Amino acid sequence: MKSKNILIAPSMLASDLSCLKDEVIALEKAGADVLHFDIMDGHFVPNITFGLPVLESVRKHTRLPFDAHLMISEADKYLEEFARVGCNWLSVHVEACPHIQRTLTRIRELGMKAGVAINPGTSIFCLESIVKHCDFILVMSVNPGFGGQKFIPEMLARVQELKKNLSGTDVQIQMDGGIKVENINQIRSAGVDIAVVGTGLFSQKDYSTQIKKLRLAAEKG
Ligand code: DX5
Ligand code: ZN
Repeated sequence: MKSKNILIAPSMLASDLSCLKDEVIALEKAGADVLHFDIMDGHFVPNITFGLPVLESVRKHTRLPFDAHLMISEADKYLEEFARVGCNWLSVHVEACPHIQRTLTRIRELGMKAGVAINPGTSIFCLESIVKHCDFILVMSVNPGFGGQKFIPEMLARVQELKKNLSGTDVQIQMDGGIKVENINQIRSAGVDIAVVGTGLFSQKDYSTQIKKLRLAAEKG
């Protein structure tokens, strides 16, 4: 089912981390739908970002849902903690979780929306038997690890394919990496429900105007 309007999820990695509290407040005012936090461990991906204490400390400054994208090797160890600090959506990588069905089930049991993330180089066939255990699929449109990378256009075809296979279900498609005003229409048309936007949003000072531009471009081209 295609969501009514595309959801815009700012990727906080591209925000000014020296004043994260002000950033989350500004984004809520600017009309963001959900805040995306990239959690990297320097093991599953070649970069380290931030973790639980950071999320916990900004949680009280906004009512927007928190979406944590775990790019970590041992996600199972930390699911309870992400629920405790107030995450509402939690995605784990299919490449990093050997017992993915169990992991997704646990995320739901903890009261969060469960997402399965997939790298550009991984075949989508591995998702077939687990879709009913998740609320959204995070299609990576860059290789995870860094903000500001170039969008991989071949990922549009996989969104179309997934969309076809998901028809009649409520599973949503999130896309992450290299999304900008210039390409968001193609992304929406392929079937993406939730767009994660980092540098394509934070490169502009006025978040409200930029979010409006992204929405308009997504829906009207
Ligand atoms: C990449 C992250 C993305 C990234 C998005 O590993 O998952 O969320 O920060 O940033 P942009 O939009 O700049 O590609
Ligand atoms: Zn991400």
